[in-house]
Amino acid sequence: MTMTSPTQQARPGAAARNEDRAVLDVRGLWKVFGPRPDRVVGTPLAELSRSELRARTGCVTAVRDVSFTVRPQEVFVVMGLSGSGKSTLVRCLTRLVEPTAGEVLFDGEDIRKAGDRQLRELRRHRFAMVFQNFGLLPHRRVLDNVAYGLEIRGMRKEARYERAREMVELVGLSGSENSYPDQLSGGMQQRVGLARALAVDPDVLFFDEPFSALDPLIRRDMQNEVIRLHREVGKTMIFITHDLSEALKLGDRILIMRDGELVQMGTPDEVVGAPVDDYVREFVSDVPRSNVLTTRWIMRPPRPDEPLDGPEAGPDVVVRDVVHTVLRATRPVKVVEGGELLGVVTAEEVLGVLAEPSPHGTSGGSAGSPPDATSGESAEPSPEGASAGSADSSSEGASGQPAEPSPDATSGGPGGPGEPGGSAEFPRSAGSPGSGGQG
Ligand SMILES: Nc1ncnc2c1ncn2[C@@H]1O[C@H](COP(=O)(O)OP(=O)(O)OP(=O)(O)O)[C@@H](O)[C@H]1O
Ligand SMILES: [Mg+2]
Repeated sequence: MTMTSPTQQARPGAAARNEDRAVLDVRGLWKVFGPRPDRVVGTPLAELSRSELRARTGCVTAVRDVSFTVRPQEVFVVMGLSGSGKSTLVRCLTRLVEPTAGEVLFDGEDIRKAGDRQLRELRRHRFAMVFQNFGLLPHRRVLDNVAYGLEIRGMRKEARYERAREMVELVGLSGSENSYPDQLSGGMQQRVGLARALAVDPDVLFFDEPFSALDPLIRRDMQNEVIRLHREVGKTMIFITHDLSEALKLGDRILIMRDGELVQMGTPDEVVGAPVDDYVREFVSDVPRSNVLTTRWIMRPPRPDEPLDGPEAGPDVVVRDVVHTVLRATRPVKVVEGGELLGVVTAEEVLGVLAEPSPHGTSGGSAGSPPDATSGESAEPSPEGASAGSADSSSEGASGQPAEPSPDATSGGPGGPGEPGGSAEFPRSAGSPGSGGQG
């Protein structure tokens, strides 16, 4: 993600350059909850709809044959309705939830084959997690919360406090080191969560709807904060959200889920410019396309008779930011990357985007429908602490952090918070009969 300003949707350079490499390579991943889940994958039972399978066997397919790769330094967003399997998918990647089938290759090695010890190492050193409900230890000061993962690792007190202080400063909380979590606002608490995750210098940061409990303005601040931190520390990030505007703002690529399945995966301009079906089309319909589609997306090959001495633009500039250049130019604007001419953009392409009708009122806003994903959470014996073996294990989550106190318990009040001004948020549960655990 190399956005030049938080509001610009310029496409990434870093992730694009890493296209052939994978930090995480997920292949044919399944997670079936319920009795004897093994009998489902690879049998006719797997073909049943969620509700049929549940009725017949008591099992829920939370993740269904999902494959994708995450590239170094990429911000990879997972989106979908409540109950579509986002949290389960992401938890399978660190084995906070045990996958039922498939492979999860991290730096080429299958995490599913890791032993307890290796897994603990991975969670303490390579991965870190930021939760929606912050997961802070209430009786510890900010500094101790931030240093927690380092303490678990056995780092000396002085060294870990030094590192923790740096992180507190990085997230803009200097001065609050000695406060307790309940003395901080929600936004500040989540900054502590961010600092704690960054303190362990992980390879991959996982975020499970970290900002959905925050009010819209604070939430926007925090999104900008993530963008800034990503620019500064360049970590690979996997980010779950309900909020399309958040996904578009943060994501290099977005994976959209429905009923456990991958529906579409692509860059923001692919998702907005070419939604694969009505499900995706409906929730991108309110997005101002000129804020998302890039010159790369709208360019075309030059015609033989066209002059090629016009102004230049990069391929990752969004239409909104190139409109004036294009409309003022008397020649086609050349889309150039690394000295190479990729295509041209003229008023015709730009106006095509601006004039595109953008149907309203089709997405968002199904307040009142509670999230359904919590219904079965307790069916599996506390996955969070399962493989940790230290004295702190009962409270240890990924990377030695305190485990999320109650996973998903707060995933939004009715409807969940949204941004003002028609932010397209996935309607929670509504309109998706098969979307989850309400049986
Ligand atoms: N431990 C569990 N036992 C049984 N079923 C579960 C368990 N965890 C999740 N599920 C079911 O798996 C499906 C996917 O749940 P998951 O929590 O991954 O969805 P989600 O997309 O993260 O939803 P939300 O947006 O509400 O957080 C749901 O139908 C849920 O009820
Ligand atoms: Mg979830």
